[in-house]
Amino acid sequence: MKEIRIFAIGDIVGRAGRNVLANKLPGLIDRERIDVVIANGENSAGGMAMTPEVTRELFSRPINVITSGNHIWNNSDILQIIDADLNLLRPANYPPDVPGKGYCIINYKGMKICVINLMGRVLMAALDCPFRKFDEIYEKVKTESDIIMVDFHAEATSEKQAFAWYVDGRATAVFGTHTHVQTADERILHNGTGYITDIGMTGSFDSVIGVKKENSIRFFLSQAKVKFEPAEDNPGINGAIFTVTNTGKTVSIKRIME
Ligand SMILES: [Fe+2]
Ligand SMILES: [Fe+2]
Repeated sequence: MKEIRIFAIGDIVGRAGRNVLANKLPGLIDRERIDVVIANGENSAGGMAMTPEVTRELFSRPINVITSGNHIWNNSDILQIIDADLNLLRPANYPPDVPGKGYCIINYKGMKICVINLMGRVLMAALDCPFRKFDEIYEKVKTESDIIMVDFHAEATSEKQAFAWYVDGRATAVFGTHTHVQTADERILHNGTGYITDIGMTGSFDSVIGVKKENSIRFFLSQAKVKFEPAEDNPGINGAIFTVTNTGKTVSIKRIME
């Protein structure tokens, strides 16, 4: 049985997130003997969006697949590359005619790794059912994939936990994104699926989920429209490393916060 180490990186927020990744990711890959990197890029441009330029910058780093979420549509320039031949994903459970793709399969040393991006529906947009969308994709990819990694981009802990139990034994691992706050609940479920509710954020930690704290405080005090700018201070990387087997099970999970 072969084992590989897959690093999932939490939502990259703005320039602070991109720069800390540029500075620290190569060293982290070396030290932790990481084989494959999946990064959520939904906030990588200006803290609220993605652009072609920033996406290309991220792919110039040792990142294999970029996942996203609700913020991917905030700058329509992303539409220029969303259908390009890139391992760039948007949640798979958007309606069928929405541009882009929700999963991809990459090759690593003869192993086929399927990465699926899904989005929750609690306190978020009313997308198609992410549970049934997983079933549909799983039926298509199960015979050709050794490993199936799911970025479940969602707000509610309950929805993330329910999803993980639903796919236990079918997905290799489920990691949550979107809240930007890392949870300490990583575990391996009964049938071998690795799970963590949220892997956190890559960006400024002297902030409110990546936004300048002054902007956020002003918003909560005024309830009026406030311009949100990405914060810069005290940047760090959040994520989790999944050691997985070519039989599609998770062996261990290590949270990363640095
Ligand atoms: Fe985010
Ligand atoms: Fe999000």
